[in-house]
Amino acid sequence: MRTLEEIFVRNRRWADGIRRQQPGFFERLARRQKPQYLWIGCSDSRVPATMLCGLEPGEVFVHRNVANLVVHTDFNCLSVIQYAVEVLGVKHIIVCGHYGCGGVQAALDDPGLGLIDNWLRHIQDVVNQHRDMLARISDRKERLDVLCELNVLAQVLSVARTTVVKNAWDSGRELSVHGWIYGLEDGRLVDMDLCLTGPDEISPAQERSTAGIFARRKMMDP
Ligand code: CO
Repeated sequence: MRTLEEIFVRNRRWADGIRRQQPGFFERLARRQKPQYLWIGCSDSRVPATMLCGLEPGEVFVHRNVANLVVHTDFNCLSVIQYAVEVLGVKHIIVCGHYGCGGVQAALDDPGLGLIDNWLRHIQDVVNQHRDMLARISDRKERLDVLCELNVLAQVLSVARTTVVKNAWDSGRELSVHGWIYGLEDGRLVDMDLCLTGPDEISPAQERSTAGIFARRKMMDP
């Protein structure tokens, strides 16, 4: 099993199909990429960025990691953001989480999975920030969904506070940071009504979005 023949067969079928339907497609793309969007999403195999947006190769620059985190010392993610904004000139950064995220669930349950626990620690910081409110949600699935949304919010704020985004805004460049969430159960993207277009919007959005996430839920009586 040194080659995964099935994948090569599928690849040739896919490439031939595109060449038939759109002659010159690959030649055009090979010359340059000019994507409009940077997608920061989860590594989960069920959340393929380009495909679920109905976009084609060349249209979205992608960074994925477990639980779509933007950590301020992660030079992998920071380099992607810098390249996308400063070199490719994307105008939209999308942080997209998804309901039922295994990484977020593990952060909540803390089952001890090894090295990855250190990565998930960043989500546990979000849990600690909202511990009382989360404890008031009795339904386990509901609590996970809320934390998935809170995590998107935290990562949107994190993107907005990177030097790259700060510099872009300081120099008057048009750049928006969006918070979205995807439903594994229905394949639908949901706009969390969270879009930052300048530094002044960070704090108000943080308060408004946090309140909105909890307000949409049925909370237990105190
Ligand atoms: Co996930």
